Order: sequence, then C-alpha cells, then structure tokens
Amino acid sequence: MKQAHLRVLGIESSCDETAAAIVEGGRVIHSNVVASQIDLHAQYGGVYPELASREHVRAIYPTVEAALKNAYMNLSEIDAIAVTQGPGLAGSLVIGVNAAKAMALASGKPLIPVNHLEAHIYAAWLHKAGSKPGPEPKFPLIALLVSGGHTELVLMSDHLQYQSLGSTLDDAAGEAFDKVARLLNLSYPGGPAIQAAALDGNPEAYKFPIARLDSPWDFSFSGLKTAVMRQVDAYKDFATDVPVADIAASFQATVVETLFSKTMAAAETHKAREIIVAGGVSANRALRDAFRGQNKFKVHIPHVSLCTDNAAMIAAAGFRHLVNGESYGLDFDVLPNWPLSTSA
Ligand code: KG4
Ligand code: ZN
Repeated sequence: MKQAHLRVLGIESSCDETAAAIVEGGRVIHSNVVASQIDLHAQYGGVYPELASREHVRAIYPTVEAALKNAYMNLSEIDAIAVTQGPGLAGSLVIGVNAAKAMALASGKPLIPVNHLEAHIYAAWLHKAGSKPGPEPKFPLIALLVSGGHTELVLMSDHLQYQSLGSTLDDAAGEAFDKVARLLNLSYPGGPAIQAAALDGNPEAYKFPIARLDSPWDFSFSGLKTAVMRQVDAYKDFATDVPVADIAASFQATVVETLFSKTMAAAETHKAREIIVAGGVSANRALRDAFRGQNKFKVHIPHVSLCTDNAAMIAAAGFRHLVNGESYGLDFDVLPNWPLSTSA
C-alpha cells in the first residue's frame, strides 16, 4: 500500500483528555474524538491526577469505538496503532498504553509509542478529510512548543530530527496562563479564560516585565506571574476592585511579545525556512495574530481544535515513525518525563 494511504489509529491519555482519532497518510483526519475532563477538574482549579486516571479507564474504549465509528472503519482497516508514551501523568499514560497494547495484540497491528511533544508539532501537518490541505511545513524549521507543561524552542532539520534550543527555566507558558487566571479569579483552564477577559482590556495598561536571561532561547514566566500577583494584591490592600480585563490583556500581551520575539529571532539566527507554533497556548488568538501580522516567515499554526490535546496529532506523529521503518514490541513502559530531543 502507498504510504500516503496508511491509516493510523491514535490514542492519547497523557493528561485530562481521553482521545482517539484516525488519520491517513499522516495528514488527513477521518475522525477525531476528544472526551474532555475539563468540567470535572475545573472544581479543583487544575488537574487532579487520581480522578484523571479513573476517567480515562471509563472513557478509553468508548472513545476508540467512537473514533472508528465516525471514520466508518473497523480495526481491520487500520494499518497501525499509535499511543502517547510520555511525557504526562504516569497513571493517565498507563491507561492509554495498556488499551493500545491490548488492541495491538488482539488485531496483530503494529504499535508505535509516540512522544506527546513531538505530536503537538505534527498537528501542523493535519487537515480534515474533504478540506483542502495547506502546504506541508518545510525544513529547516523552528517549532515553538507552548503547552501547559512545556515551553520550548526546537530546531527541526528534517522529519523526527529535533534540536532543543532553549526552554522555560520555571513555569510553562500555559501554566502561567493557568496561574494568573487563578489570581484573577477566572475559570480553569486559564488560557481561554484570560483570552476572553482580555477582549475588554487595554494591553498597554500595565508594563509587566520580560525576563532577561543568559540564553536568548530560554524562557521564564515566574517573575511575570509574581508581578501580576503584586498588582492584584495592591488593589486588594486598598479594597479596590481588581481591573481584571486590563491585567489579563497586559499579561497576555507580555507573554505573546516574549514568545513571538524569541521565535522570530531564533528563526533568523538559525536560518529557518519556516516556523511552526504548536501546543495548547497556540490556540491563543493574540499569539496567532502576532505571527500572522508578519511576513518574514511562513508560519504554520494548527487549527484551534488541534492545538490542545488530541489524538489526531498522535496518529500524525506515529505515521512518521511507521514510514521511517521503525517497529516496536509490546513491552515498552510509559515515560512520564520524556523530553523531546531524545525522541528522534
Ligand atoms: O497542549 P495542552 O492541551 O496540554 C498540555 O500538553 O499541556 O495545553 C494546555 C494549556 C493550558 O495551560 C491552557 O490554559 C492553555 O494550554 N491554553 C491556552 C489557550 N487554550 C489553551 N492558553 C492561552 N490561550 C488560549 N486560548
Ligand atoms: Zn499537550
């Protein structure tokens, strides 16, 4: 069978979404089902790992069944199964990995363990069945990976070849959104809540600090978070209403400026042809607008629905390993702290 027609069933359970998807040729999405636990965790203001595992157990097989049904396929029409091996919550990863192993064993299909961070980048290759594909990203490229757990600048010289240029020294960008949202009494997850609150705010109302670091490709968001906290506390000390919209807009503008300027500088310094922006924070409208507002580099940003955790991206990354001729047994374990650069 031609590579472009290989179908991969992707399975994702690294955090608080149970997801399954079927992708053809690493690009065409036939189905993409995400069972979100956000409502469950919102009451705790963040992910509650024990509850997440229990929910994955409940949701994993129905989610896979829905992915097959939505694609009008059965398991025999799939060429391989790809599953998130890490990084993520150990107890959550294990549910997806064990379900995938059981399905691979029963069906005789090859099983491909996938790095979740790599998969976020491969979301840039995806499009829905029936929709016109955009041009494929061209190498060498700079990938800005911004999620709840990671913030990293990566140089990709080719498929599956990653060189980490720098990463966050403290909080991830998404984590900063989540923590600042909590300070402002906004809902979980913080990214979409801050984006919504910022719509009515002035992004120049406050001048929040951008960390100056030894390496131009590293990030730090803890000072920014502390600056926001001080500002909020100052209003509380004077029993004044906190101007949530202005603080949210100024915070968001500071994060966007940091991510945008470092990524553009990295692309210029490393003579990249193109840029990919991926991970949950790449759903942010202001960040997307910043990259779209320049014309130095072609920038690929996944569709908003593919920025946050999903299994189509797992299938897309799995496809690359499949066509790379890699094969794996069934005796691999989860890797909760697996970095990106060793996954090639
Ligand atoms: O990639 P993801 O779904 O999960 C991880 O792999 O971590 O990213 C989740 C993160 C959360 O911190 C969430 O607040 C953030 O992405 N996020 C956003 C937006 N949507 C999700 N941050 C800013 N603006 C958004 N619109
Ligand atoms: Zn993720």
